[in-house]
Amino acid sequence: MPIPQRSKPQRGLWSSRLGFVMASAGSAVGLGNIWKFPYITGMHGGGAFVLFYIFCILVVGIPLMLGEMVIGRHTHKNPVGAFKSLKGGAWTAVGWLGVIAGFVILSYYGVVAGWAVDYLWLALRGAFGSQHASKVPELFTELLSSDLRQLFWQAVFMASAIGIVLGGVRKGLERANKIMMPILFLILVFLAGYGIFSPGGPAALHFLFYPDWSKFDSRGMLEALGQALFSLSLGMGAMLTYGSYADEKTNLPTAAFSVSFMDTCVALLSGIAIFPIVFTYGMLPAGGPGLVFKTLPIVFTRMPAGNMFAVLFFLLLVFAALSSAISLLEVVVSYYCDEQKWSRHKATLLIGFFIFLFGVPSALSNNLLKEFHLIGDRNFLDSVDFLASNYLLPLGGLLITVFTGWVLTTRLAKEEIEKGAVRFHFYPVWHFLIKYISPVLVAIVFLHTVGLL
Ligand code: PFF
Repeated sequence: MPIPQRSKPQRGLWSSRLGFVMASAGSAVGLGNIWKFPYITGMHGGGAFVLFYIFCILVVGIPLMLGEMVIGRHTHKNPVGAFKSLKGGAWTAVGWLGVIAGFVILSYYGVVAGWAVDYLWLALRGAFGSQHASKVPELFTELLSSDLRQLFWQAVFMASAIGIVLGGVRKGLERANKIMMPILFLILVFLAGYGIFSPGGPAALHFLFYPDWSKFDSRGMLEALGQALFSLSLGMGAMLTYGSYADEKTNLPTAAFSVSFMDTCVALLSGIAIFPIVFTYGMLPAGGPGLVFKTLPIVFTRMPAGNMFAVLFFLLLVFAALSSAISLLEVVVSYYCDEQKWSRHKATLLIGFFIFLFGVPSALSNNLLKEFHLIGDRNFLDSVDFLASNYLLPLGGLLITVFTGWVLTTRLAKEEIEKGAVRFHFYPVWHFLIKYISPVLVAIVFLHTVGLL
């Protein structure tokens, strides 16, 4: 009897629509939500920043996510292959930009995620109990000054990401996300619930949701849009790659909306979990990048059952980071599997190893390479983060919005979205946003960053 063939036998497909949404939410929810969102909200005055951030998600984030998913599902290809087959020529470079961004971002993402694993390990050994209160403020400096410790945890983290991606679309990516995401959500809701009812709860809610426009300026606006792209994993083909594993019945607008909604909820819930404890113990909300590694751990030692909260919080951070890291790795791996015909095994192991190697200078940038400044007075890690978040992603985002709005024909986009008998009533709104509004907003951010505006 002939074996029934699936349409794309050599590539993976999600086993269900829920699997696709979970995995995409896993990619979106990451260090960007739990580590970065609270501290940049703190630095830009709170409520007004949050409101503007939500505006960016609505007018740029959701439309662009749908655009990436449409391109991915239509071509069933990696970013390079997708742009090559749709238009070719110079547009192929947009795919390349994505693959390079995946490589660069994961290299330092693995280092910061390694810090989270280190802190989880410390918490599991009881380091944030009240008896250790005096030692906690130095923990972060100690970690940053130890090259071996950072390299070790970076390696552990990267090995876990590689292990998951080796399993492929269903048995690796989908299964890992289906386990990690519900746990992540439960922990977060618990921590946010605790935050709201703690003495600093009302002050934190006021800080997060009361817009004080006097504290908000154009820098905050740029930061909000950049953060919206980073947080939704847009501008580098991650959602395109995940969309390429979706079947024709998947309702893409619903998926794009659900993923963006979940991502925004997680960012807000992280703020609701973190700021109340920061306020209760009289710390400053504008603690900067050290907010979760310096300020929070001090607070844990003063809270009742603080060490347990520390374990939960850092487990949350590690899961969030891992589910995003696997999507970054998958973008690069999918290129080598599709275009270079490498086996998934070879691609994952080799690429994973090279990304780890490229991350080594980031792990050393606060110790051995402390004096080495790559861009301005930034060390290596800060420079690659700056390069990726301020150049690669906005540029990629801009080009993908222009491609979706101006190059992709209306017929193709509409047909792709409405496959599986979905009537998409908001098509004109989406098309208007992706054609006129999103490119202009992203272009403003980009031109401002490169100093042309
Ligand atoms: N969205 C992730 C975060 O918020 O941490 C980061 C990220 C993952 C960016 C995957 C881009 C990407 F392709």
